[in-house]
Amino acid sequence: MSNGGEGMGRFVTLEGIEGAGKTTQLAWVRRVLEARGLEVLVTREPGGSPLGERIRGLLLDPAGAGMAADTELLLLFAARAEHLAQRIRPALARGTWVLCDRFTDATYAYQGGGRGVDPERIAMLEDYVQGPLRPDLTLLFDLPVAVGLARAGRRCAPDRFEAEAAGFFEGVRARYLALAASSPQRVHVIDAEAPVARVSDQVERAVAAFLAGVGR
Ligand SMILES: Nc1ncnc2c1ncn2[C@@H]1O[C@H](COP(=O)(O)OP(=O)(O)O)[C@@H](O)[C@H]1O
Ligand SMILES: [Mg+2]
Repeated sequence: MSNGGEGMGRFVTLEGIEGAGKTTQLAWVRRVLEARGLEVLVTREPGGSPLGERIRGLLLDPAGAGMAADTELLLLFAARAEHLAQRIRPALARGTWVLCDRFTDATYAYQGGGRGVDPERIAMLEDYVQGPLRPDLTLLFDLPVAVGLARAGRRCAPDRFEAEAAGFFEGVRARYLALAASSPQRVHVIDAEAPVARVSDQVERAVAAFLAGVGR
């Protein structure tokens, strides 16, 4: 159990590789939650706060090619510390549900699975920056790398992560699936290759099951 004290909001994260449909389905999750009368804060990582968005700019800038893996890791957690302090913790404390496009699972997947950073280092920073706070529910949008990249490829200029080779994303996807296997209570794997309406149905079922579990 992470943060779900009485009167607290719940923390919901969306994860998956580029082109998986996170941003598309985020709007749907928001509607499902708001239809239950819940206050929802929609946010994203890296970023989510004014300073965090500036750090995001540094992380995604193709000019940062060759950035040391530790620099990237520490910038991500710096942005996360700011996001938690400025937005996420205050929202949860006032009973608002937080809906976040990527969170620390993405660090395990991209920096761990993609770049080969030791997951124990990530776990140390996770504990340091988050204390006991973890997402209550995570929707993992899973699909073949080639399908996701083909969808994302329709976007204009690739950022520093989108410019990575397909092999990098195979590592990211595999780590995401391993995280889901090790936390089946929290992480729901969604078949994201399906048409949008069928993905939305899966999302609605997962959210409804979670809501039932917390008595909403
Ligand atoms: N289930 C789907 N089937 C086909 N195309 C999709 C689906 N979901 C999203 N898309 C399209 O794929 C692209 C990437 O979706 P997006 O939601 O931005 O993914 P992400 O935020 O995970 O990178 C967008 O053009 C979107 O319209
Ligand atoms: Mg997106």
